Amino acid sequence: MNQVLYIKNAAQVITVGGASTAPKIREQMTDLQIIEHGGIVLENDRIAFVGSDIEAQKYVDRLETETRTICAEGKIVTPGLIDPHTHIVFAGSREKELEMRLQGDSYIEILKQGGGILYSTAQTRAAPEEELVEASKKRLDRFLLYGVTTLEAKSGYGLTVEDELKQLRAARRLNEMHPIDIVSTFMGAHAVPTEFKENPDEYVRIVIEEMLPKVAEEKLAEFCDVFCEEGVFTLQQSERILEAGKKLGLIPKIHADEIVQFGGAELAAKIGAISADHLLKASDEGIHMMAQKGVVAVLLPGTAFFLMEKPADARKMIEAGVPVALSTDRNPGSCPTESLPLIMNFACLTMKMTPAEVLTASTINAAHAIGRANEIGSIEVGKKADLVLFDAPNYQFLQYNFGVNLVEMVIKDGGVAVE
Ligand code: NIG
Ligand code: FE
Repeated sequence: MNQVLYIKNAAQVITVGGASTAPKIREQMTDLQIIEHGGIVLENDRIAFVGSDIEAQKYVDRLETETRTICAEGKIVTPGLIDPHTHIVFAGSREKELEMRLQGDSYIEILKQGGGILYSTAQTRAAPEEELVEASKKRLDRFLLYGVTTLEAKSGYGLTVEDELKQLRAARRLNEMHPIDIVSTFMGAHAVPTEFKENPDEYVRIVIEEMLPKVAEEKLAEFCDVFCEEGVFTLQQSERILEAGKKLGLIPKIHADEIVQFGGAELAAKIGAISADHLLKASDEGIHMMAQKGVVAVLLPGTAFFLMEKPADARKMIEAGVPVALSTDRNPGSCPTESLPLIMNFACLTMKMTPAEVLTASTINAAHAIGRANEIGSIEVGKKADLVLFDAPNYQFLQYNFGVNLVEMVIKDGGVAVE
């Protein structure tokens, strides 16, 4: 029996179509392929029809199946939002560090003193898997309320073989139990744990020889990420880890050029990373190389905001032809929010991305950043029925009425997940 859902007469259906094989760049990012007075028909977990509402009604009539109709008059429908960079599986919180930073301590200084990522690591190590699942589930519930239907989640608060696997297993369980789809990334190279402070290369060896093979064997992650940054992992260490991951089938991603200009963007292009993320300090050469290789720039303006830093130069990247995606970077230290729509507001208001570019960056380009563009990221026949109904008369309104949750309904796998 087919379960049919008919979304009727939306003011705008923002399909973001036509880019399932390659991400949108430059002016393509402003081409949202909008259908005014549009209708969408979902059959089971797939999009069966999208077009004018008149045609959608005819399609439904021909089906002769019981149909649930959702009136979308005066509202807009977008693809389910996609968050391609999060660190949601962790225990504890770090509000004290906010006060330290307000008094002048830097993010990296706090980390070097054993706080920051290392503080979250101590708490995450102490938490059983079940507790990580419980804590992360609450965060996922909030993500869903903000219209996110797929997100990527990294490990990196375990930093031992067992604790990294524990985080990834928690993510796998969350994927099974929660409506949001979770795509996992192994990030054992998130920080050098305190016990290897004097011998970071030994920790790199453990990541490569002990962690990566286990992650690959248990198929716990699709991607491998490294915090390539001055005082964290060097370019050479990052390259060795990502190359070792590649040999095991894990696709590289990089936390690149966040705090200082370090050559992370260049490395991303050189090793064929699917994305380079942060990029606040990326060099012109690095940006150029990313454009040539089609590396997606995952920009995280909420992190820049929370760390009180100047955000990445999104305009320069778009003009250079780099495909840009957006993400919350949800983590306990540098961006503690689940509101991807707020991050989209920041992208518009602090990086001068247009409302159209922002939507492309949070849907189809985000899907490309996690290798899912054939399944999600646009409203096209055959794709997964993941949609958001916003209480907004047009797409520009999403960036205008900022800091509020305009999500009215979330449809996940063809069923109503939030209403
Ligand atoms: O993407 N930059 C490194 N990693 C995270 C922050 C993790 C943390 O502070 O706990 C990020 O910002
Ligand atoms: Fe991050």
